[in-house]
Amino acid sequence: MRFRFSVSAVRSRAELLRSQLDLLPRSYSHSPFPPPPRPSFGIAFDIDGVIIGGSAPIGGSPQAIQRLYARDGTLRIPFLFLTNGGGVPESKRASQLSKLLGVNISPLQVVQGHTPFRELLNRFEDEPIVAVGKGEPDTVMSEYGFKKVLSIDEYATYFPDIDPLAPFKSWITNETCNKKSATMSVHPSYDVYSERVKGVFVISDPVDWSRDIQVLCDILRTGGLPGQEKGDQPALYFASDDLEYQAAFPAERLGMGAFRIALESIFNTVNDSPLKYTSYGKPNPFVFKNAEAVLGKIVSTMHQNKEMTNKGQAHSFSTLYMVGDNPKVDINGARKAGRPWFSVLTRTGVFKGKDNHAQFPADLVVDTVEEAVDSILKKEGIE
Ligand code: G3P
Ligand code: MG
Repeated sequence: MRFRFSVSAVRSRAELLRSQLDLLPRSYSHSPFPPPPRPSFGIAFDIDGVIIGGSAPIGGSPQAIQRLYARDGTLRIPFLFLTNGGGVPESKRASQLSKLLGVNISPLQVVQGHTPFRELLNRFEDEPIVAVGKGEPDTVMSEYGFKKVLSIDEYATYFPDIDPLAPFKSWITNETCNKKSATMSVHPSYDVYSERVKGVFVISDPVDWSRDIQVLCDILRTGGLPGQEKGDQPALYFASDDLEYQAAFPAERLGMGAFRIALESIFNTVNDSPLKYTSYGKPNPFVFKNAEAVLGKIVSTMHQNKEMTNKGQAHSFSTLYMVGDNPKVDINGARKAGRPWFSVLTRTGVFKGKDNHAQFPADLVVDTVEEAVDSILKKEGIE
């Protein structure tokens, strides 16, 4: 007969298909089949230079990411975005990425440079702080629970003449000024003239470097009260230390690390004691440890069924793939983190070489993220 199957063959095929195509929870208590195994691998994707260039998708990223979902839209392969960028809350970035890539991305799947700032809540929850960078740096910190936060834009507007170059900045439109005055009168979250700034958080790439360096030197040299005598330097945190990154322009752009060098060099020249600061982000190995823990949580949400959760036990991955474009940051970080990390370097961003990078060679070099996902799925035996 042409179509002869044994029941066990049909069943094992069904099990194989299910384990490969749909890893999300179903009502297994009513199913005759055992639940699919937990995936033994996970993927971390860099964003700038891998998924997007500026604001547009690159390297076939929508198609690549869509392959990690089952047909019904449920997640089948645990993955997250591990970026040194940021400037908006994780929930907002998740919905921006969902629209861009045509899949449903949860905020848990977005780890930005500033995401670990949440861990500093104990220390700064009720302290006056300043948030710096493009986007909505104050909203990011407020959403993490910090109660007394001002963006550097708003903070600077309380000090007339703090930036002597402001009248020459023709790009500051009336609209922006009106918006600023509205924010000022509605809810200043602390009194900038009497309460010393205790912490400065550089959330994302600063926009107006000349003003920000001036105002930060003022805050940092005076112990948090611009215009006053010298004082102890408040704490200073950077979300990352990327010297350069890939945006829409063909050559790399200066990043937060370049801003840090500019600030540090000027501060150290005008001040007696050198700048003290802490930088987060890749390539710090703790970022990769944290990403592993978050991927474990993602696996748990994919397998919410009781008999599948080893309560209290961390999920153990045999391989975690880091797909990045920056050898010094993404590949170096994955190498320093060690097993189970496996690095994949794309040619769509900072790295444009023909062969592997000499100083920070990746485990695999590919052209695009689409090729990266293809190779990973093949290596893991998934179509
Ligand atoms: O500003 C963004 C940049 O520094 C790096 O972003 O996604 O390449 O880690 P990403
Ligand atoms: Mg990148």
